[in-house]
Amino acid sequence: MAQLYPFTDPVAARTHGPTVMMSGEGCCVTDTDGHTYLDAVSGLWCASLGFSNDRLIAAAEGQMRQLPYYHSFMGRSAQPTEQLAAKMASLLPGDLNHVFFGCSGSEAVDTAAKLVRYYWNARGRPNKKRIIARDAAYHGSGIISASLTGMSYCHDGFDLPDVAVLRTGRPSYLHDAKPGETERAFSCRRARELEALIEQAGADTIGAFIGEPVIGSGGVLPPPDGYWEEIQAVLARHDILLIADEIITGFGRTGAWFASEKYGLKPDLMTMAKQLTGAYFPLSALAISDRVHDAIAAGAHDLGTFGHGFTYGGHPVGCAVALEAIAIYEEMDLPAVVMDRSRMLEAALEPLKSNPAVADVRLAGLMAGVELHDKKITAQTLREAETRGVLLRQIGATLAISPPLIVSDEEIAQIVSVLSDSLANATIHKPAGKETA
Ligand SMILES: Cc1ncc(COP(=O)(O)O)c(C=O)c1O
Repeated sequence: MAQLYPFTDPVAARTHGPTVMMSGEGCCVTDTDGHTYLDAVSGLWCASLGFSNDRLIAAAEGQMRQLPYYHSFMGRSAQPTEQLAAKMASLLPGDLNHVFFGCSGSEAVDTAAKLVRYYWNARGRPNKKRIIARDAAYHGSGIISASLTGMSYCHDGFDLPDVAVLRTGRPSYLHDAKPGETERAFSCRRARELEALIEQAGADTIGAFIGEPVIGSGGVLPPPDGYWEEIQAVLARHDILLIADEIITGFGRTGAWFASEKYGLKPDLMTMAKQLTGAYFPLSALAISDRVHDAIAAGAHDLGTFGHGFTYGGHPVGCAVALEAIAIYEEMDLPAVVMDRSRMLEAALEPLKSNPAVADVRLAGLMAGVELHDKKITAQTLREAETRGVLLRQIGATLAISPPLIVSDEEIAQIVSVLSDSLANATIHKPAGKETA
């Protein structure tokens, strides 16, 4: 095997190589053995317009022919990059009026973490550097973004440097509520725990809090009632910036343009990628509020330059694709379509709630999680579904479903019927031993 595969056991990969995809059509992909799969997770939550969108392909080709590359360093830029920045500033909520482009989600998060430092230095408060992140968060695989990630498997073996991350509890009512605790009371407890952490560490040492509005790779965890309201009140009291990691949720995934709008977040910084280009080209963006931008601009002016950037950040081909993706989203009335698809998926999943093997069914737009009681049955269901032609994703005991946003009624019915049949079969042929999340 010439490739060192991400999030894969390299030794197991020697005997069980990957399923190699060769082509895509609509919501489906076909492997080199000719098997076609309905990809119910859009690759990695990202192929929002499926795998054969002619308009995105034409946008990429047109830009490749016109100007295949230019950068945004030292007084230069490219036309689609300028246009995309302006378009995003017009779409983004609140005073997120500035964007910085990268290629990956991890780069956007690393940039956000660096800007937190830069901002507080510029404001004359150099000790305000630490960032609070949550258990079960996924923020990427760079040095800082992996440190902010709350999964131990992203830390093990890497000896990540201490970049001053403080950790607080995940917003999972299902897993972490105390007996008799209401959702709202649970949210208030999480906010009190956060405040205690801040007071213990000293608010003057903490620059920002980072969170996914809806946790994705940590198990599809929509926020409990009142969570973001309570958390933001604490952050405001201690003058701590909020970074909304909207790398999965940005551009429609939860049924709003941005999940921050849906859940009432007012972030100072917001990361985006995935749906931004429908994954047809690697592109990420960090949105920056006026207040943060102005302080950074003043600080950079004093220092002589803003010393941060990536050769391929804001690549004109990616920006042309993103502009076309946004045009398609606007034409299709993205939030309305996603909420319509979401209601359809929710109705289809409803019967699973009474299945004794199922612990929970949860949804936020077109992010859904079906959590089972037994992680081994989850793994078996995943395998069975794959043999029946539907790709799901296992996260602990949960099966994630996040289809392309163009998924049809028939495809939703197919995903859920294959999931139900696979679960039934996995439960009958229950693997030995019991493992619970
Ligand atoms: C919420 C979130 N943040 C950051 C990232 C990292 O993005 P990338 O894999 O593009 O570096 C991901 C990737 O799944 C993500 O889900």
